[in-house]
Amino acid sequence: MDVLKDKIDVILSHYDYQVEDLLPILLEVQHESDGRYISEFSAMYIADQVKIPYAQISEVITFFSALNPTKKGKYHIEMCNGTVCRVNEKSIIESYLEDTLHIKVGETTADGLFTLDHAPCFGACDISPSVRINKKAYGHLTIDKMKSILEKLRGDSNDL
Ligand code: FES
Repeated sequence: MDVLKDKIDVILSHYDYQVEDLLPILLEVQHESDGRYISEFSAMYIADQVKIPYAQISEVITFFSALNPTKKGKYHIEMCNGTVCRVNEKSIIESYLEDTLHIKVGETTADGLFTLDHAPCFGACDISPSVRINKKAYGHLTIDKMKSILEKLRGDSNDL
């Protein structure tokens, strides 16, 4: 936790502890944290440092979908839930992901490797149906393509 605290201090200092920069501060802290989320500890520490109530930070984290209040798996899969992806049968890919990962949308696999969430359209409609994995878009998805992406990610993970 101290390592993260040190990183938060660097980020806060970069923004000169300005509450006006709360959103970029939170996004950077999230990026630096294991599990890409804003823990209660981090939120309380930041609130203390920029001198605002904890409840205010909590509201910001709840309001912005880009901020995560809960820990994510190593690979955060965001299934687009936008209109174009729905028309292009994203439900087939979503069902495959739920079945193969043994989780529902909003859950993380027991090994902490994958989290599956919905996301609003992220502008990859031309390659719909699409998912983002750790913010990288993958499109023209079929079950075979999704399977091969998961296999590649599992392979990378074994190398670590
Ligand atoms: S509707 Fe899915 S990326 Fe736009």
